[in-house]
Order: sequence, then structure tokens, then C-alpha cells
Amino acid sequence: MSDHTSHKLWGGRFSIPTAAALEALNRSIGTDYRLWPFDVRLSQAWAVALWGAGVLTLEESKKIERGLARVGERLGKGVDPLPSDEDVHTLIDRLLHEEVGDVASKLHTGRSRNDQVATATRLWSMEACTRLDASARALQQVMLDHAGNLQETLMPAYTHLQRAQPVAAAHWMLSHFWPLERDRARIAAASRSAGVLPLGSGAVAGCAFPVSRVLLQGSLGFSAVSQNSIDAVGDRDFVAELLFAVAMMATHLSRLAEDLIIYGSSEFGFVQFGEAFTTGSSMVPQKRNPDALELARGSGARAIGDLTTLLATLKGLPSGYNKDLQDDKRALFDAVDTMLLVLPAVAGALAEIRFNADRMRAALSSTMMATDLADYLVEKGASFRDAHGAVGGLIRESEGSGRELGALPFSSFAKAHELFGEDVFEWLAPQKSTSRRNVPGGTGPSAVSGQLSAARAALSTVNDAARGNELVLRAV
Ligand code: ARG
Repeated sequence: MSDHTSHKLWGGRFSIPTAAALEALNRSIGTDYRLWPFDVRLSQAWAVALWGAGVLTLEESKKIERGLARVGERLGKGVDPLPSDEDVHTLIDRLLHEEVGDVASKLHTGRSRNDQVATATRLWSMEACTRLDASARALQQVMLDHAGNLQETLMPAYTHLQRAQPVAAAHWMLSHFWPLERDRARIAAASRSAGVLPLGSGAVAGCAFPVSRVLLQGSLGFSAVSQNSIDAVGDRDFVAELLFAVAMMATHLSRLAEDLIIYGSSEFGFVQFGEAFTTGSSMVPQKRNPDALELARGSGARAIGDLTTLLATLKGLPSGYNKDLQDDKRALFDAVDTMLLVLPAVAGALAEIRFNADRMRAALSSTMMATDLADYLVEKGASFRDAHGAVGGLIRESEGSGRELGALPFSSFAKAHELFGEDVFEWLAPQKSTSRRNVPGGTGPSAVSGQLSAARAALSTVNDAARGNELVLRAV
């Protein structure tokens, strides 16, 4: 006899009750409750499949399917789980019994929570990917809007956090757009990995009743059916892939946040933060703190931790389902929830930032055109090595005399290399430097405007392809 009072899905072979300490550890409803819409849907599809396999009559199948719909309505309004509801699957089974009585006991025929939870988690993940894509696109749109306005604005580009060369500020802004574009591609790939149906794998050996897995696949919107039941119940690659995509995206957002935080400091003054996404200090009245950006930077650590947690969980597992896998959802939900909080906050913080073109321009000095000076000599016929040496000498002189390159007299240039002419001073203007870099991917004006068009085109692609292809199947 199974334990009907507590509505356990197992227990027939046990003669004493489960220890309270194990029940406390084993209970996952606090985490997996949110899988309910997907568990209800896959259970409805399973009821139809069982009818198709001759296990349920049409009448029974319809009763269960409609009962599950009512269970879904109740769950949508909020149901408090009982202490005996081990996980969301047990809760739904109990509620279904309340709705339709004993026929509910037939639903679990041929399936196990092993293929059930894998299926529900995949459905949840595919939906999460669609939401992540939309949130990432919203942030990219803010970047595009800024970039459109910053095409004429020049600023230093840094390597080693040292001023290196002048660039269009739009070029800097778009340097944060493309990493997110790659993140969106990774999220779309994770969604495709999730789109393989495990239902029908049973506990580990496959369902013994002739259910149509192809119809299950179609009705639940999966794009393929798993090939091996042992693999299917223990495969969490899609979780790892999604966690990597999220961790990578969190890393990118952290770098964007770091740029903005530095640029917002008084020392830089390139950007001014707005007020909706900053906070004040309880002690220092003048402070405006970029908390949204700092929290974005900090949450990257969490996302990386979630990925590490999952990989560490998977690496030692024997094949098939193991209970360790129950914790995949903690890591998955934490990372996705965090990212769905961070993306809008970063988008909002970035949207209200104002750029200070004068401060950016003031950070450019003629010394940053040293490379252009070498190029000048090359254009006049010098070898790059010679040119580099001559410019090096000029830099030494300018540093020694505490003057920028552009403040040196022409005689210094003439002494440094015979090919220098009076027009050399034009080459010390930042505009001249950027305008010479129209190679695709460069910071020249036409290259940047081409880049903007490419970015706009990329953003018009919405990555929700893995969903929306469900067949509507009903036992009528
Ligand atoms: N709550 C479980 C999980 O999330 C469901 C699967 C339980 N399977 C089992 N054989 N006990 O992994």
C-alpha cells in the first residue's frame, strides 16, 4: 500500500516512515514549484499519449486532461504546498486526485519523474531563452541609440588602461554591442539543445507502452526526440550550455559596467549617471553611486558560481538519473533570475547616462597620434622600423621637456627624420587619425556607420525559433 495520507508517489516497498531529516533534505518543492505550467502541459500531452497507446480510454484521457487544466488554474492563483508535497510533480498529482479522483492514479503509467522533470526543465529553459533574448535585445537597442548619437564624438581608446589611440565614442559603445550579439547566439544554441524530448524514456529503459513520442514531441513543441533513454534522463548538457551562455553574458555586462563606472568617476568625467538608477550615500551628501552597474558587475560572480556548481555536479555522476541532478534547477533558476534582473537594470542605467563630449575630447592629446606620425613617414617612403625609431626619439624629447608632441617645434621633427615636412602638424589632430581608419571594423566615420547598419540588422533577428511550433493535439 502506498501512503495515501501523505500522497507520496512511492513508498509501497517501505515498512517504516522516511526519516524527517531525509524528507527535509529531499524536498525540492521550494525550488521546483515554478515548473508547474510545464509539468501540467506535459502531463496533458502524456494523458493523450496514453490514450493513443490504449492505456486510457478516451473518456479517462479527457477527464485527466481537463482535470489538469483545473489544476493549472488553481496553481495559477497560488496553492500552498503541504509538508508532504515532496516536489512539484507530487503536488500536481495530489491536486489532480482532488479534481478527478481515482482515475488520476492512471496518469503515471509508463512514465517516471526522471523523464518528467527532464522534460519540464527543458520546456522551462526554452522559455527562459526567449526571455533572455528579449532582455538582451532591449539593452542592445539602448547601445544602438547611444552609438547613433556618438558618431562624431571622439574619445581615447585604452589598452592596459593607458590612453592609446583616438576613436569615435560610437565605436567604443558598439564594442559592447557585439559581445551581447554573440551571447544571444549562444542562448539560441542552448535553446536548440533543450529542444530534444526526453518524455517516453521512463525511469531509464524507455516506456513499455506504445506511446507516440513523435506526437508528444510535436504537441509539446520540441524539435527532436531523444535517441537513448539512459542518456535522456541524465542529460543536463542543455543546462550547462545555458549556464555558460549566461555566465559569459554576465562577464560581458560586468566589463561594460566597469567601463562606465570608471568613466563616471570625477577623474574621467566622460559620463554622468542619471538619478533613477543610482543611489545616494547615507553620509556623504554629494555622492551619486552607480549601484545598478556595481550590482551587475557583482552578479557575474554568482553566474560563474552557478555554472561551476552544475559542472561539478555532473562530472562524477554514473549514467542514468541520479538525485544529485535535483539541484540543477537551483543553479539554473538562480542564474537566469539574476540575469533577468540585471539586464533591465543595466539597460536603464545606460539609457539615462549622459556623455560629456568635451571631457572625452580633452582626454585626447597629440602624443596619442604617435602611431600616425610613424604612418606619415611610411607614406613618405620610410620603413616602419625607421619611422618607429624616429617617433620614439620625438616622444623622448616631448617627455623630457614636459610638452605634448604637438607642442614641439618643427625643428625637432626635422631633426628626428628628414622626411618630416611642415604638414606633419595636421597629422597630430585626432580627427585625422580616426578618418584614416575606414577599414571594415575600424573607427573611421564610414566604417562606423557601416558597423551601425550591421548592428541594426543583427538586432532585427529575434531568437525565439525553438518555440512556437507546437501542434495542437487534443483527445476530443
Ligand atoms: N524532484 C526530482 C528532481 O528534480 C524529480 C525526479 C525524482 N526522481 C526520482 N527517481 N526520485 O530531480
